[in-house]
Amino acid sequence: MMEQELEKIKEQCLGCQKCPLGQTRTNIVFSDGRPNHKLMLIGEAPGFNEDQTGKPFVGRAGQLLDKILASVGLSREKDVYICNTLKCRPPNNRDPLPSEKEACRAYLDAQMAILKPKIIILCGKVALTSFITGATSISKIRGQWFDGPYGAKMMPIFHPSYLLRNQSKAPGSPKWLMWQDIQEIKRAYDELAVD
Ligand code: URA
Repeated sequence: MMEQELEKIKEQCLGCQKCPLGQTRTNIVFSDGRPNHKLMLIGEAPGFNEDQTGKPFVGRAGQLLDKILASVGLSREKDVYICNTLKCRPPNNRDPLPSEKEACRAYLDAQMAILKPKIIILCGKVALTSFITGATSISKIRGQWFDGPYGAKMMPIFHPSYLLRNQSKAPGSPKWLMWQDIQEIKRAYDELAVD
């Protein structure tokens, strides 16, 4: 049921020409992981590998994301529904334009309306600024819970590509902070009763 509803939205995306990225994409990148009512992760936009394969987070940042999830026993196959703020790749991986985010937003809203996830992870600045008004700096508010749509708890976390550029694991470093955040997310996840 939930899968069928998501499939309908994906079909709409496949023909989407609401913004110019429709002309340059190789593939729509709609989602990966397990559609579920517990945990959704929203990233930024497809990069080269994602555009080629049609799957989110499959490049280096994606491999690190999988490791971060695995460090607390979560996997995209079983536990997490993964999608992006934009469904199409911006040329040369530039930041999404406000007009592109606006054009794509209805698809993301539809994904959230179907799943009504209890926990939403906002991964990186683009997802953060799409949901938390006035927020600009991820380092200032990562790790905090915010109220999200349909009663969800939302937490902004660093984007894994930022961690790839900051290798230190010392206390207070981005990697160390990510470890605190993913443990807090897992703690909240374990408290949920829904399947
Ligand atoms: N970065 C993202 O934010 N999303 C992807 O799908 C890949 C890299």
